[in-house]
Amino acid sequence: MVTRRDLLTRGLLGAAGLSVAGCALATPTRPEPSGSPTMATRPQPSSGSPTATGNASRTLVAVFSRAGENHFYGGRTWLEVGNTEVVVGLLATLVDVDVYRIVPAEPYPTDYEETVAQNTREQDAGARPRIADPLPDLAGYDRVVLASGVWSVRPPMIMRTFTEALDFTGRTVYPLTTHAGSGLGRAVEVYRQTCRGATLGEGLAVRGEEAGAAEPEVRAWLQRVGLLG
Ligand SMILES: Cc1cc2nc3c(=O)[nH]c(=O)nc-3n(C[C@H](O)[C@H](O)[C@H](O)COP(=O)(O)O)c2cc1C
Repeated sequence: MVTRRDLLTRGLLGAAGLSVAGCALATPTRPEPSGSPTMATRPQPSSGSPTATGNASRTLVAVFSRAGENHFYGGRTWLEVGNTEVVVGLLATLVDVDVYRIVPAEPYPTDYEETVAQNTREQDAGARPRIADPLPDLAGYDRVVLASGVWSVRPPMIMRTFTEALDFTGRTVYPLTTHAGSGLGRAVEVYRQTCRGATLGEGLAVRGEEAGAAEPEVRAWLQRVGLLG
């Protein structure tokens, strides 16, 4: 089992070859394949990455995860590392992927209730919260995992900011959520609507409270969808 503290103190995300794909595009809203190598760096297997298998096709994991106060079995807890980030860290120990972190231009509150209230406002307004960094170039990726928590039964609105800005034509999108009971929620529906040109693959929903122990289900899912060796 991998705990959040493990991830922080052992630097497992780095040791697993998890890399951040900040990107190269001048315009963050409508990237075009440039022919030049993407800035998304491929993780290098290292001694800390015992089970990385490699994969012929290139997979991008785009993850939005919020640290701070969060739901925990009906109560509250403080997450030093968000649940989805933990699951993506596990995933990256199992398969060779590039990771792009979706960072909000205006950070969400660390307070849970304030975040719930802000999300409600954003959903009601159909908001598209701004992303701080340039978006990745999808050229060279034929599979994209979209990973986030579930907020009011949907992916956080910032996931739509990401998906609507990119062209997924010819790519398979795999929804991945962590949640407190809603499973994938409406993620499949939302991504079907907003990932232009994508084929939707099987999703994975992990209980947020059990993110650190999710390796078996992540591995089984990777196998089912053909991402693991
Ligand atoms: C604003 C907000 C709304 C949430 N709404 C739901 C929900 O509708 N259904 C659910 O199962 N979990 C809900 N949760 C719990 C999160 O989906 C869950 O804790 C998830 O693992 C958080 O992922 P993260 O830590 O990577 O951000 C909500 C959490 C927040 C902060």
